Amino acid sequence: MKELTNSLDDKRSNPTKSKTFAEIVRVARSRRDVVKGGLASAAAFLGGGLIKGQSDVVLPNRAGLTDFRPVTRNQAANRLIRVSADYRYQVIIPWGEPITPGGPAFTYPSNAEDQANQIGVGHDGLWYFPDRDARDAVNRRGLLAINHEFGTNGHVIGKGTPESLEDVRLSQNAHGVSIVGILRENGVWKVYDACSARRIHANTPTSFSGPAAGSPLLDTSNGNNPRGTINNCGCGPTPWGTYLTCEENIQGYFGASTGDNWVANPHQERIGFTSGGFGYGWHLFDKRFDLADDGYQNEENRFGWVVEIDPYDANHVPVKRTALGRFKHENAAIAIGKDRRVACYMGDDQVFEYVYKFVGDDDYIKYLNDGESPLDHGTLYVARFNEEFTGEWLALDADSEALSRFSSQAEVAVYTREAADLLNPTPMDRPEWLTVAPDGSVFCALTNNTDREEPNAANPEAPNNDGHIIRIYDGDMHVGTTFSWEIFQLASSKADTEEAYSDPDSIYCDPDGRLFIGTDGGQELNMDNQLLVADVVTGDVKRLLAGVPGCEITGTTMTPDRRTMFINVQHPGNGSLANTNFPASNGFENPGVPRDATVVIYRRNGGIVGS
Ligand code: FEO
Ligand code: CA
Ligand code: CA
Repeated sequence: MKELTNSLDDKRSNPTKSKTFAEIVRVARSRRDVVKGGLASAAAFLGGGLIKGQSDVVLPNRAGLTDFRPVTRNQAANRLIRVSADYRYQVIIPWGEPITPGGPAFTYPSNAEDQANQIGVGHDGLWYFPDRDARDAVNRRGLLAINHEFGTNGHVIGKGTPESLEDVRLSQNAHGVSIVGILRENGVWKVYDACSARRIHANTPTSFSGPAAGSPLLDTSNGNNPRGTINNCGCGPTPWGTYLTCEENIQGYFGASTGDNWVANPHQERIGFTSGGFGYGWHLFDKRFDLADDGYQNEENRFGWVVEIDPYDANHVPVKRTALGRFKHENAAIAIGKDRRVACYMGDDQVFEYVYKFVGDDDYIKYLNDGESPLDHGTLYVARFNEEFTGEWLALDADSEALSRFSSQAEVAVYTREAADLLNPTPMDRPEWLTVAPDGSVFCALTNNTDREEPNAANPEAPNNDGHIIRIYDGDMHVGTTFSWEIFQLASSKADTEEAYSDPDSIYCDPDGRLFIGTDGGQELNMDNQLLVADVVTGDVKRLLAGVPGCEITGTTMTPDRRTMFINVQHPGNGSLANTNFPASNGFENPGVPRDATVVIYRRNGGIVGS
C-alpha cells in the first residue's frame, strides 16, 4: 500500500520516544558485527543449538532447492510481468470481475450494487482453501479468499471526492474481502459458481469476540450494529480451516465533518486519526465514518482488528477477535506450539511500532471441541529485542502492575498500542508480514524506516531505506516469554548484485524452507517490485517474478501440492494507464484504468513452485 499510505506509515504516531531501544542501550557493536553475529546464531541453530526446545525439524538438502533460472534485474522493454524462464503464468480475477460466472460484468466506473458482487480492488493477502467437495481435485478446485486493501477515489469512483452516498457505497463495496471459487480446466484457471462465493465489505455485518466483546468501548451512542471490515492488508490461514484478514490503515477512512475544529483524543491520536483521513470522504455522506458525529462515537474502535472468516460458509458472520489486540495489523501467522496451544505472530505496520504475539491458554483442539475459538482465550504479548540476540515477550495483562492505569482487559485490547507503550518494547522499522518456517523459527519483514536516526541491534540501519528481515527463535515451542533472534538479511546487503531487492513486505515460508519475499517500495536500479525466493539456510536469493511498473507484490498462497502459486499484484501503474495497461495484455479488457489482479504461476516441468 505504498503510494497512498506510505507517507502515513512513515509518520510516527508513537510518542514514546523515550522508550526507543537505542536511547536505553547504546549500540555496542557495528552493523557488520550484528550481521556476523546473526550468521553465527544461524550456525548454532543448524547445529541443533536452538534455545528452549524448538522443533528438531531438519531442513532437506539445499541442493536444487531453487534451481530455476532467475529473472534478471534489468527491466524488460515491454514492461510486462516477467517470470523465470522455467515458469509460466496466467492472470485471473482482476478487480471488477464478477465473483460468480454470469455476475455483473465490469464497467468503469462500476456502481455500488454491481461492485458488491464483483472482485474488490487493492488485491493483498490471499489464501487458497481446497473445495471440500473436490475429493481428488483439491489442487484443481478451491476457494480463494482475497483481501482488498485500498483503492483511491480517483481510481475506483472516477472522481477525487464522493458526490453522493452512492459514490461512497461504491468505494466501500470495493474494499474488504472476496471469497471466489476457482478451478483449473485444460490447464487454465477460471472462476466457477462456488456456493460460498461472497463479498464482505465495509457494510457487511460483523461481530466481536474476546475480551472487548460487549465492552462500552465498542458501543456507539445510537446503538448501531457492528458492520464492515476495511483496509484488509495481510492475512493468515488457521489450522481449523478459516481465514484471518487483518485491518491495517483504518484511520484513513474516517474524517470529521467539522474539519479543522475537530481535535483527536489521545486514543485517536495514537492510531493517527485526522479530520481528513486519506481523503476518501466517506464521512461526508455516511455518518458512521464521521468522527465529529456524537451518534457514532467509538465507531473507530470497531476497526483495527484481526477478523476471522469461514470461507466455506457464505452466511458466516465475520468475527473480530479482540484478544489479538487493536493496531495497524499487517498479517497473522499462526503456529501450533507446546501442548497444542496456538501462537499467533503479528506486526503493527508503522514506523517505530511493535511486533506482537498471542498465545492461547489451552489446547486449541479442546477449544474447538467445546465450540469455542482458540483465539479468544490467551495472552497478548509485545516484543522487546535485546542486544546479544535475546528478547522477551511482555504480557499485556490488565491485572499487572505496569498496566494498572487500564481498568480492564477490554481496554487493553482496544488501546493495545498505549498499553504496549508502558512495557518498553522495541519500536521497529515497520513490521510487515511474519511467517513461521518449518523449523519453528519465525521470520518478520521490516520494510523500511527512513525516520530512524539511531540504530539498535534489531534495527541496525539508520536511516533504514531498504528494510531487513529478522528471524526469531521463539522459546518453549512458541508459548514462552523469551526468544533469541538474528538478522536474517539486510536488504541493502544485496544491493549491486543480481539478488538486489529492497522493502520486503509480504513473506511466506514453505515447508522446505523457501522464503518467498514480495516487495513494496522503490527497488534498486528502478526495478519494478518483485517476488524473490530466499533459502532460509544459506540466505541465497533468486528473483522468481518481476511485476509491472507501479505495482506492489502482495500476498502469496499455493495449492496443497505446491505446484500452483497465486500471488497478488496491487495498484499496477499506481492507477495510471500511462504506466501500464496490466492486465490488458493478459486477456482482460482494459476499461480505462489498470486493474489489480491475481497471478497464477507454475513450473513448466510441473515441479514445486520455488524449485
Ligand atoms: Fe498493507 Fe503494511 O502493508
Ligand atoms: Ca503489506
Ligand atoms: Ca508495504
